[in-house]
Amino acid sequence: MEGVFLIMESQVMNQILECTSCGIVTEYKPETVCPECFGPLEVTYDYESIRGRLSREAFAARPTTMWRYHELLPAIDGGVPETPVGWTPLIKARRLGQVLGMPNLYIKNDAVNFPTLSFKDRVVTVALAKAIDFGFDTVACASTGNLANAMAAQASMLNLSSVILIPQDLEHQKITATACYDTRVVKVNGTYDEVNRLCSELAYREEIGIVNVNLRPYYSEGSKTVGFEIAEQLGWRLPDQVVVPMAGGSLISKIDKGFKELVKVGLAEDKSARIYGAQASGCAPITDLVKTGAKQVTPVKPDTLVKSLSIGAPADGLRASRVINGSGGWAEDVSDEEVVESITLLAETEGIFTEAAGGVTVGVTRKLVEQGKLNRDAVTVICITGNGLKTADLVKHRAAELPLIEPKYSSYSELVNNNEEVRISVGTI
Ligand SMILES: Cc1ncc(COP(=O)(O)O)c(C=O)c1O
Ligand SMILES: [Zn+2]
Repeated sequence: MEGVFLIMESQVMNQILECTSCGIVTEYKPETVCPECFGPLEVTYDYESIRGRLSREAFAARPTTMWRYHELLPAIDGGVPETPVGWTPLIKARRLGQVLGMPNLYIKNDAVNFPTLSFKDRVVTVALAKAIDFGFDTVACASTGNLANAMAAQASMLNLSSVILIPQDLEHQKITATACYDTRVVKVNGTYDEVNRLCSELAYREEIGIVNVNLRPYYSEGSKTVGFEIAEQLGWRLPDQVVVPMAGGSLISKIDKGFKELVKVGLAEDKSARIYGAQASGCAPITDLVKTGAKQVTPVKPDTLVKSLSIGAPADGLRASRVINGSGGWAEDVSDEEVVESITLLAETEGIFTEAAGGVTVGVTRKLVEQGKLNRDAVTVICITGNGLKTADLVKHRAAELPLIEPKYSSYSELVNNNEEVRISVGTI
């Protein structure tokens, strides 16, 4: 297989898969459910041995990519792709913080993740490295858009054949930003949940590595690095509160797992972070679960402009709701109108253009502050997980009636300065 690989010499090789329902352990294989009880399989680690080998100081010399945490990621026998994924900025959000009345607000900005501008680059880099380890030469996924972008780019880079299945109603920017790579894009006449069912069937019928089906235990571990980076960038401190957008419910569950692992291996102080989930009102099965305390997810048919979060039957919905309730956090949802307003609010205050999912995060943060569920003064990190260029149509009204002038100063001045207020302020300066 082509691609540039980096061997992590010190990687702990005794990692195992454990069933989260019955506790049975197995060695790594391309499976997502327990052969005994069909419970979900999870990658677990020998924390005691990692604890003895890791120190905060050691991280200063490590590469600034998500693989700096390789001891707490699935072991990759063939080495990890040398793709600089992760280590995205954590920004002190002063102006948004002023608007929301939150003086200790931070943004984890995965809208600038490499190479495809969403947090999905993180999960894909782990999944494809593992796919190569398992000997797959074809990989596939079901996607709500961002995963499609990340898979297509990274599979091209690694010279893996890829098939990407998407619901037919995705944003055209996301479809284009998938089809431009060396990949096969298949549009399916159905919802994401139907596409996902088709992928599960594919995993049984064909020898394919499906990143969110038979490679899911490894793929989902990549999301922990959002939590690792937040803590390290805060000076190895966990935040008091974190707000995370939810679709399948994996990212939020893994951020929580990442925080807890840092405490277990002694890199972060022993405290807990309250975890808050965000969804769009037109597809809020996990928020509903948090609010009702029900024992299982009631699937919904998504009806929202927020395509990236349109998963009506979330695979990790129950786990996410338990993480949220167990941490003392909460979940909320916002209307499509609030999503668009929030995209604009973030752009105007912080200069960050987010895709729809980030509008959900900002809108829900605002709502939770107003409800008194989020503590205004606490150290709060909100996760912006994808780039606004991918859903630019949501704010195209902002550019709809822009004036056109002749290329002359008089035309410019007539338009820009021909206004009492502007002239007075210019005169004052
Ligand atoms: C931009 C963005 N944010 C958040 C999520 C939610 O991730 P998860 O499905 O792990 O809950 C997705 C999922 O596709 C996404 O595309
Ligand atoms: Zn089991």
